[in-house]
Amino acid sequence: MSQKLEQEESAARTAMADVPHKILVMSGKGGVGKTTISVNLAYAFAAMGKSVGIVDADLHGPNVALMTGTEGHRVYGSDDGTLMPAEAQGGVRVLSIASFLPDSTVPVAWRGPRKSAIIRQFLGQGNWKGVDVMIVDCPPGTGDEPMTVAQLIPDSDGVVIVTSPQDVALLDSRKCVNFVRDMDQRVLGIVENLSGFACPNCGHKVDLFKTGGGERAAKELDVPFLGRIPIAPAMVSAGDSGKPLVADMKDDPASLMLTEIAVNLERGWNDNTNQ
Ligand SMILES: Nc1ncnc2c1ncn2[C@@H]1O[C@H](COP(=O)(O)OP(=O)(O)OP(=O)(O)O)[C@@H](O)[C@H]1O
Ligand SMILES: [Mg+2]
Repeated sequence: MSQKLEQEESAARTAMADVPHKILVMSGKGGVGKTTISVNLAYAFAAMGKSVGIVDADLHGPNVALMTGTEGHRVYGSDDGTLMPAEAQGGVRVLSIASFLPDSTVPVAWRGPRKSAIIRQFLGQGNWKGVDVMIVDCPPGTGDEPMTVAQLIPDSDGVVIVTSPQDVALLDSRKCVNFVRDMDQRVLGIVENLSGFACPNCGHKVDLFKTGGGERAAKELDVPFLGRIPIAPAMVSAGDSGKPLVADMKDDPASLMLTEIAVNLERGWNDNTNQ
C-alpha cells in the first residue's frame, strides 16, 4: 500500500471515529429513494437539534447536491487541506463531488481506485468537527463505493437499506443485506419506500409497486423493519427544488414516517447508551 493511501485511510478512519453516529444508506437496486431518505433523515435529525453531515458517496449520480439545494456551491480546500462542506438548510453540512465539477452535465467516468480516493478524502478531510450524525448516501448495489465506505467506517451505527416493495427490488435487497453482513456492518433495518399511493382527490389507495414486501423481507432476513413511506408527489418537487420535505411539509404522511424513523434511530442510540 502506498504511503499516501495509508495516510488517507488512517485520516478517514480517525475523522469518522470522532463522529458519534454514522448511518450508511444503501440499496440493492437504483432509484428506490436512498438519496431522498438520506437527505430527509438528515433534516429530521437537524430538527432534533443535532449537527448533521452528509457525504455523497454516489460519484456517478451525485444527487445529494440537488436535493439539498447546494448544487453549484463550490467547495475549496483550506491551506491545511480541510474541505469546507456546503451548508444546506438547518446547518446540514454536505460534501458531494457535484461541488467540484464544472457543471451538472459533466459525467464522472472514473474507475474504482480514483473513486475510493475521493471517498477517503471526503471522510478524512471534510470539516466534520462537531458533527453528531453523519449520513453517507451510497450509490445502488454492492460495488466499490459502498465497500470503501464500509471499510473506512467499521464502527458505523449500521446500514439503512432502502427498497421499493416489488419482488425485483426485494430480490436485490436480500443481496444487499448479505453484502452488509459480509462487510461486518450492522443492518439497522429496511425501509420500504414508494409504498402505496393515495389519490389526493378521493383518498383511494393504489399500490403501484405493491406494498408490504419490505416488511416481509425484513422478517425473513431477521432484520428490523424501519417503516413504510408512501409515494408522495410533494417529495418529488421537494427533491427537485432542494427543499426538505420533513421540514417544510411536516404533516405529509411521508414526512411523518421519515421523522418517526429518525426518532426511532435516535431512541436506539439512547437505549444502547443506557444498557
Ligand atoms: N416516497 C416517495 N414519493 C415520491 N417520490 C419519491 C419518493 N421517494 C423517492 N422519490 C422520487 O424518486 C426519484 C428517485 O429517488 P432517489 O434519487 O432518492 O433514489 P435513489 O435510490 O437515491 O436513486 P439512485 O439509485 O439513482 O441513487 C426522485 O425523483 C425522488 O424525488
Ligand atoms: Mg441516490
